[in-house]
Amino acid sequence: MSDRILSGMRPTGKLHLGHLLGALENWKKFQGKDTFFMIADWHAFSSEYDSGSPVRGYVNDVLIDYLASGLDPAKCTIFVQSHVPEHAELDLLFSMITPLGWLSRNPTYKEQIRELKDKELHTHGFLGYPVLQAADILLYKANKVPVGEDQLPHLELTREIARRFNSMYKEIFPEPEAILTDVPRLPGTDGRKMSKSYNNAIYLSDSPETVDKKVKEMITDPARKRRNDKGHPEVCSIFYYQKLFNPGAVAEIDKTCRSGELGCVDCKKALSEKLRQFLAPVYEKRCELEKDRSAVESIIEEGDKKARWIAAKTFEEAKQAAGL
Ligand code: TRP
Repeated sequence: MSDRILSGMRPTGKLHLGHLLGALENWKKFQGKDTFFMIADWHAFSSEYDSGSPVRGYVNDVLIDYLASGLDPAKCTIFVQSHVPEHAELDLLFSMITPLGWLSRNPTYKEQIRELKDKELHTHGFLGYPVLQAADILLYKANKVPVGEDQLPHLELTREIARRFNSMYKEIFPEPEAILTDVPRLPGTDGRKMSKSYNNAIYLSDSPETVDKKVKEMITDPARKRRNDKGHPEVCSIFYYQKLFNPGAVAEIDKTCRSGELGCVDCKKALSEKLRQFLAPVYEKRCELEKDRSAVESIIEEGDKKARWIAAKTFEEAKQAAGL
């Protein structure tokens, strides 16, 4: 059987450069195959249910970000999780056969509870996050799931749930594998991991002027106080970016930064230029899409329809097998 590929993101805000390099650029490589990309709004809601920033608005932003980044609805199916009710239904069925211990032992769960202290995450829904993710994947009988390393425990649970279902009722589901993206975590403008919650992200929706401004404000080598001080590229986020966006000049930058010839202001200017070139097509496409909401809407309607057609068949099969 040929591969079916599925992945998704939680719409908890507009997408940034970290998402583009870490996920979307990789997803694009699978287009043209049997490929599904989802906007996991139920998953977003499991932590954002009381945040006062409606998930629905972010669904729209993320959809436009997907399209602007080059996901092409002619080559893949793009859909919204909550528009396909079978996700919630299969989640419920799976929740009946998933032992609690599998969920409470999940390292990603434990880490999130620890990290997101300002949120009340001791909920039934949040504990069941990976059960819903298993439903997302298995509804389409996807066997390949491109994700980051943090998702491996969820994939493992998906396999365990599939195995349990298959052995308890009937062999229906494949045991999907992760396809890992080997992209290093992109630092944000303050050197920490790029994230909306740290307020250090460069967004796909940032205008070229905003990108310039953010690059100007980026933190460089803290030991370099004066223009001619010798720099240490290995501790500088700008240098990290130069390696990604300006690879041809890296050797020269490394040398002239260390000797103190190249100042941070000029180094940032060179980076800004490259970053603009990289982001311009995405930004322009984004502006076009913002103006043509009805086109965007029909793309999602089409994707939802295709997804639902498959999801309904699988869910019926699962119900039958389970004797429900
Ligand atoms: N949990 C994933 C994340 O946070 C998002 C997600 C939801 C997902 N359902 C999925 C990813 C199914 C892959 C397949 O990134």
